[in-house]
Amino acid sequence: MRLPRSISGLLLLLSSLATSTPYTGPLTCLPSGTLMPTPSYPLTQTSNPIFTVCSTLSISPPQTQNCTHILTALQDFPRYPSWNSFARIDALSPPPLTVGSPILITSFGLFPAGLPSSTVELISFWSESWVARGRQDEGKMVYLTAWKLELPGVMKAEHASTVVDEGDGACRYMSWETYFGPGSVLVREGLGEGLEDGFESQGLELKAWVEGGNV
Ligand SMILES: *[C@@H]1O[C@H](CO)[C@@H](O)[C@H](O)[C@H]1NC(C)=O
Repeated sequence: MRLPRSISGLLLLLSSLATSTPYTGPLTCLPSGTLMPTPSYPLTQTSNPIFTVCSTLSISPPQTQNCTHILTALQDFPRYPSWNSFARIDALSPPPLTVGSPILITSFGLFPAGLPSSTVELISFWSESWVARGRQDEGKMVYLTAWKLELPGVMKAEHASTVVDEGDGACRYMSWETYFGPGSVLVREGLGEGLEDGFESQGLELKAWVEGGNV
């Protein structure tokens, strides 16, 4: 279909505006025990946030690569078993994955005796890039991917990962998840520490995988 020139010009303008949407979400982990909003869920009385798990570290991709390769590694679910001992993700719909695609997340090490725990979640942000605003990272590109769990009336949670160019070939990776709703109290009591350890080890393993030139 051929669009009249004015319309294609408008679409071009809209898409360039979309890629420069300012990012005003978190860019650093807050001290353990502090709640953080997620890209879809604000911290309000009605959202009833219960706890946040957050992990961040600096990753330096090989010289011929850049920060987007970290996002590529995070989105390459079939290769998770090669580097990630904490979580596996399986797509539950045919490719390509996009916002709204269902995924099955299996975590290891949360329950005693190595029993896995599985949840079906939905991709909420896939390959977003934003410009950071109002923080020390003002003007830098922020790459974001996220998925969320929704169990109506029980709990919801969103796990987001951001990558920001720090300059000098380094990228700041941050991964955080906030749990909302009454069911989250049990999750915090039973699995909170395991989740913190899992997020830490996942970050270290991602760093080793990317810096080892595997992406
Ligand atoms: C990062 O690398 C990708 C793939 O090689 C390339 O397409 C992209 O333009 C690079 N981005 C930047 C900001 O240099």
